[in-house]
Amino acid sequence: MTRTKPSVEILSTGRFLPPRILTNQDLEKMVDTSDTWIRDRTGIRERRIVDDGVTASDLAEASARKALDRAGISPAEIDVLLVSTATPDRWLPSTACHLQARLGANRCFAADVHAACSGFLYNLALAEGFLATGRGDTALVVATEVMSSIIDWDDRSTCVLFGDGSGAAVLRRSSGTRGLLSHHHRSDGSLSHLLHRPAGGVEHPLDSEGLDRGDHLVKMAGREVFKSAVRAMADASTEALKAAGVSVDEVDLMIPHQANIRIIEATARYAGIPMERVYVNLDRFGNMSSASIPVALDECLEEGRIGKGDLVLSAAFGAGLTWGASVMQF
Ligand code: UT7
Repeated sequence: MTRTKPSVEILSTGRFLPPRILTNQDLEKMVDTSDTWIRDRTGIRERRIVDDGVTASDLAEASARKALDRAGISPAEIDVLLVSTATPDRWLPSTACHLQARLGANRCFAADVHAACSGFLYNLALAEGFLATGRGDTALVVATEVMSSIIDWDDRSTCVLFGDGSGAAVLRRSSGTRGLLSHHHRSDGSLSHLLHRPAGGVEHPLDSEGLDRGDHLVKMAGREVFKSAVRAMADASTEALKAAGVSVDEVDLMIPHQANIRIIEATARYAGIPMERVYVNLDRFGNMSSASIPVALDECLEEGRIGKGDLVLSAAFGAGLTWGASVMQF
């Protein structure tokens, strides 16, 4: 197989998790659930939750500054800043523009690109496109989620799943063998009803009755999403590996979206990757939507789970529906 030559590499990553821990035992006191059910059905033991008033750009700034410091890049050098979040600070303007001002990244192009849990991988592909075509040298890609602000804390089928956090990556044009080798991203808007927030936008403005019903909070058809997730992430992984010219046996580590341990295990099985080569942190952080993958990537780089020359496959799935996989060499 001929391997793709990368033109953009990940120079560094950073993460920020709010310090407050919400355990399964805490949730037992809030809804009709149990630690055993949550661990058996999802693999989650605890998650991080922000304190009141903490915003997506607060988390984003902390993870972005870590990534920039590690790369030795000043905010003024950023040409492209892409933010993924399902929980923007405000509807207008973008969280990316808030973050740009907070960082002092004054000469960049800044935008939010929202693809739910797939947002980080989508934005890696978009940032790569900008850099590879010469419309900038340096990109900052940030995923930041305050999922606790859009969860229905009375709905046991969703409130046990999610957590808050942020991860970031600095990208630069590359002339060597390290970098992004391929992406395979797709979406299917006809399945948007499986995972959504029904009200609060222009289509269904939030009135007081809707507010009482919690129409502005996350609704999910868990079983249907589960089935679609496994098939889509496994297929996208196969396609991305093919496009990269990499065989599944060459993958040193898979970093899947961290929604449910059973989804991760089934995806890895279908993709043909043993669990010893799959990274899991959802036991500690739950599902942080688009922030799950960059947080995991940052942990793996810090812990030495990813070394020089390693091939990493990452796959994501989320509302939209959106999904995709990316292959990268470090
Ligand atoms: O990141 C974006 C994508 N999101 C996902 O990928 C999530 C995908 N879906 C899932 O991870 C799983 O479908 C869930 C974890 C959400 C649910 O697991 P499940 O095995 O599909 O359970 P279920 O929805 O089929 O529910 C089984 C039972 C039901 O009770 P009955 O009807 O059998 O009596 C639920 O009411 O479990 C009950 N249940 C709970 N019981 C205790 C649902 N949530 C809970 C809970 N504690 N928290």
